[in-house]
Order: sequence, then C-alpha cells, then structure tokens
Amino acid sequence: MPGTPPPARRTVLRAAALVPAAGLGITACSSGGGGGDGGSNSSAPTTAVDLGESDEVKVGASKLYTDENVVVSRISDDEYKAFSTICTHEGCPINKLQGHKLICPCHGSQFDATNGKVLHAPAISPLEELPVKVEDGKIVAG
Ligand code: FES
Repeated sequence: MPGTPPPARRTVLRAAALVPAAGLGITACSSGGGGGDGGSNSSAPTTAVDLGESDEVKVGASKLYTDENVVVSRISDDEYKAFSTICTHEGCPINKLQGHKLICPCHGSQFDATNGKVLHAPAISPLEELPVKVEDGKIVAG
C-alpha cells in the first residue's frame, strides 16, 4: 500500500543533488595538459630554464619562448616578468605574440604578456607567473 517514502529515499535524493555541484568542481580543475597538440612540450617549466641573453628582450618588449612555454616581458633595465604560456582555459600552449598580446590558437583567449591578465575570453584566469632573474647576462625563468 502507498505511504510516505521511507527516510532512506530522502537521503538518497539529497545525495544525488550534491553530485552535479561536485562534478562542476572537477570539470573546472581537470583541464590542465589535455589540450596540447602540435607542440613537443605542453607544460611550463617546473625548474629554472636558461632562456638566453637578457639583451634579447628590449626594455618595454616581450618575447615568447615556445619551446619552454614561457613569455618574458622586460619592464625596465633590470625588471623582468615571466609567465607560463599554457592557456588557463583548456591547457593549450600559446604560440602567438603580437606586441604584448598573447593569443591562444585553440579558442582565441588573449592575455597581456606584461601582467598575465586575461584580455579576451573564454579564459577567465590569468597566466601563471613564474620566478625570473638575470644570471651572468642570461634570463633564467621557472
Ligand atoms: S585552450 Fe586557450 S582558449 Fe581554449
């Protein structure tokens, strides 16, 4: 005979309601590294890498190092900024720099190479900043 559902059913329904929220969290965080295509390397350096002569980046300019997935901007004579060029949208390596604007080949996100900020969606998170210094006239980042 019909009656009120047993308490266990209410518990099951409540648990089911939580699953989509948890799923969204996983989706937002699981994108790193899967989207790389066309490059031999699809991650930013995890250890320091030598990027060459510091004079290769003029004051006020930015340079993209596609093999290392790093962009370096020279803010002043002795101040540099470095960012990972792994797109924060779905992890594609960014391969295009126009002035200070980085353009992702996968879905068109754009970032400012001097501060890592998003200039154009779909990415919403800034690029990861990397430590950078000049040692013996060479730029070392990562
Ligand atoms: S992975 Fe860069 S815009 Fe989508």
